[in-house]
Amino acid sequence: MVSGSSGAAVASGVVAQPLFRAPVGTRDLLPPESGRRRRLVSVFADLADRSGFGLLESPIFEELGVFQRLGASNDVVTKELFEFFDKGDPPRHLALRPELTASVCRAFAEHRPTPPWKIWYSGPQFRYERPQAGRYRQFDQVGVETLGTDDPHADVEVIGLGLRFYEALGMKQVRLLVNSLGDSESRPSYVAALAEYLRSRHGELSDQARLTLERNPLRVLDSKREQDQPVIAAAPVMADFLSGASAEHFAAVRAGLDSVGAAYEISPRLVRGLDYYTRTTFEFAADALHTAQNAVGGGGRYDGLVEELGGPPAPGIGFALGVDRILMACDAEGAFAAAPAPVEVFVVDTAGGHSAAVLCDRLRQAGLGVDRAFDGRSMKAQMKRADRSGATVAAIVGPDEQAEGAVTVRDMRPGGGQRRVAEAEVVAVVTELLEGAD
Ligand code: HAM
Repeated sequence: MVSGSSGAAVASGVVAQPLFRAPVGTRDLLPPESGRRRRLVSVFADLADRSGFGLLESPIFEELGVFQRLGASNDVVTKELFEFFDKGDPPRHLALRPELTASVCRAFAEHRPTPPWKIWYSGPQFRYERPQAGRYRQFDQVGVETLGTDDPHADVEVIGLGLRFYEALGMKQVRLLVNSLGDSESRPSYVAALAEYLRSRHGELSDQARLTLERNPLRVLDSKREQDQPVIAAAPVMADFLSGASAEHFAAVRAGLDSVGAAYEISPRLVRGLDYYTRTTFEFAADALHTAQNAVGGGGRYDGLVEELGGPPAPGIGFALGVDRILMACDAEGAFAAAPAPVEVFVVDTAGGHSAAVLCDRLRQAGLGVDRAFDGRSMKAQMKRADRSGATVAAIVGPDEQAEGAVTVRDMRPGGGQRRVAEAEVVAVVTELLEGAD
């Protein structure tokens, strides 16, 4: 047997071509799902635009150093980057972006916009993770970042925008979890206390958690392993170690969330997967997803990142939401269904020649959604396509119509009639019929 990808010669002497597939951890997004995504991004764009955020489009790859600032002990940096060298002399060490916050901070440091700088983004991110349901090597995020202010109201605005977005999609089962990770003053004493506690229960931790403990004790709190849960449940919490300033900031964020009626849970052991966070951290959990991957978004403050990238002091707050997981959660909740293709008119042409091309062009120029058949198929076959397209109206040109310079306009709804009209009247007649369809 010839394997699909071997390209080996078969008996007839014809070489079987390899059957390529999308790389592991990536997917083709086909219609109508691809259209649903585009709509999701436009719902997000609309909300962000209306909240004073402008779009930033940054490169999909950056110098490796930009991402190394995400944390030296972090899996995203140490294991999951797609790195490569370009053809420069000397070659540059680059990486596909695993997230966008670092790129946004790099852009801020490079362009020095007037703060506060409020931007939104959307696009693919790349992490060499072990693929599973809801976890891909290429995935899409939408997000916002506000740079140049540490006003707690900026935190409230960002978090509130996330909540409103899930609401706008019709999702009802998203929980907001918030925590404060403290500042550079309070964090070291917490991490020391946490490490001491975890070491005291070393024997009860999973092998994986023991390794994590040596690299970054905070990340042990993120373990999903059963075995680690009793240890985590009794671990010291950051709240008891917050400096006065951090505690005040966190209280102001909570009061702000209360003022806009945003429901949240304090999650005292919430730590995030990236190392740049300070003070406010949060996650959006989708209860409709019964998998380990139920975080449909997350974010927080990163008050030192711009400076680490050579920029001026500029505290920042933002989030990124995982489009792939949001759509999975929407499916589980029965929210934000895929919309049918917006074909209003289907052009059927059994006369040959250019009638269908001319008719399609004219109708599309009038702003209508129009599709057509190809390959000179029979009337019956073309009408079947017209039916399947979901079009309300069929515009039919057969040899008789062509001879007369006319078009038969058929109302495809049950009980709908048809009539033959002069070519010049088609747009008006079809528009009138469609208006009646609303
Ligand atoms: P993150 O938690 O790494 O944060 O990712 C945000 C969201 O992206 C996750 O909650 C999840 O929905 C989605 N996501 C992450 N990895 C994958 C994957 N492999 N497959 C599918 N979806 C995934 C960040 O990226 C930060 N930049 C967020 C941020 C912005 N913090 C401050 N500003």
